[in-house]
Formats: sequence, structure tokens, C-alpha cells
Amino acid sequence: MKLKIDKFSKHLIDFTTVDFEKSLLKKNTILDIGCGEGEFIVKLASLYPKRQFIGVEIKYGRIIKCLKKAHVCKLDNLKFVLCDATLFTTKILHSKSINKVFINNPDPWPKEKHQKNRLVDLELLTGIYEKLKRRGSLVIKTDSSEYFKEIKRNILKTNFSIDKSQDRLDSSTSLTKFQKLYREANKKIYSIKVQKK
Ligand SMILES: C[S@@+](CC[C@H](N)C(=O)[O-])C[C@H]1O[C@@H](n2cnc3c(N)ncnc32)[C@H](O)[C@@H]1O
Repeated sequence: MKLKIDKFSKHLIDFTTVDFEKSLLKKNTILDIGCGEGEFIVKLASLYPKRQFIGVEIKYGRIIKCLKKAHVCKLDNLKFVLCDATLFTTKILHSKSINKVFINNPDPWPKEKHQKNRLVDLELLTGIYEKLKRRGSLVIKTDSSEYFKEIKRNILKTNFSIDKSQDRLDSSTSLTKFQKLYREANKKIYSIKVQKK
């Protein structure tokens, strides 16, 4: 049986190849961690054709939707990886290979017993720091004030410095699917941008 995902292999990353390593180093590469159905990164890839975009998502169904969008929009600068973001960031990516990382609305896991499942922890932040090029930046957004506080506490344990400037790429996109839902529910969206020294 042929997998549905094989149809879109042009936009799917095979990180077991040597080419993957090489392809990152020379380009201006931007990562969207937990990209969901890909609205945010598809928009960025169409606005900035000279940059290279990678969406990381753990759910197969969502990756299929992302791949279809990249295929329909004929975006040669956009690829996706079906992988756990912590594994991808800490173990697969190479040091100093990424220019910018976005994490939009990671699952908040509000119940205390589930908080251990939160994606943005010290391990992920340290991994991202390592993989960013010098002066590379990370933008995180969440509707959860508790999660936001935890993220800021963990950022203080890293070497990142807070960057108060507005991110140009971020401000050129519209709201993501989840941000639209939060806005409809009158929820505040907390945002932080940090930079590698
Ligand atoms: C609340 S959604 C936000 C999606 C999108 N960023 C947006 O703003 O519309 C969180 C996404 O993170 C993905 N995710 C959760 N844990 C992950 C992990 N360990 N690695 C990669 N993606 C993950 C989920 O499958 C989901 O699509």
C-alpha cells in the first residue's frame, strides 16, 4: 500500500540524507515548531521566496494538510518534517544551522498533572539556542499566562537575551488558526522574542 504522505515527498524532509545537513548551512532557514495545519509558515514561505522554511509537526493528519498546501501553492522553499520537535531540535539539527524559530501557541496543558507534557521546556529552549546561528532569534506566543510565566522563567536559565523589537516576519503574517480562536474568545496572546548573543 502506498502511503498518502509519499505523494508529497517533494515537501517532506528526509533528515537521514547528507543533503539535509548541507541544505541548511548555506541558506537563511526559518523553523515553525508545532506548525499545526501550516497556515503561518505557508504564508511566510509565499512572502519570502528567497528564504527556506521548515515546519515541524508531530501529527500525521496535520502534516498531510501542510504538505497539500505547499503542493497547491507550489512553494519550493517550504518543507515539513514529521517528528517530535524536541528530538528534531536537540538531536537532528546541526549546530548553528537555523536563523529564526517560531513557536505559535504550543498546547497549554492547563491541568497540573499534564504540565509535564508541555513542549516548551528548558531542554527545547537550550536545544534551539544551540542550533541558532549567531544573532538568530526565537519568537514564542501563547494564550496561557501560566505557561508564559514558565517559559520566561526557563528563558532566564538560558543564554538568550530579550529582544523588544517587533519581528518583521511575524508582523507580516495574519493570525494562525488557534490565534483566531483565542481572539474570538477574547483571550490575550502573550508573546516574547529572544535573541542568541
Ligand atoms: C495548539 S496547536 C498550534 C498550531 C499552530 N502553531 C497554530 O498556531 O495554529 C499545537 C501544535 O503543536 C503540535 N505539537 C505538540 N507537541 C509536539 C511535539 N512534541 N513536536 C512537534 N509538534 C508538536 C500539535 O500537534 C499541534 O499541531
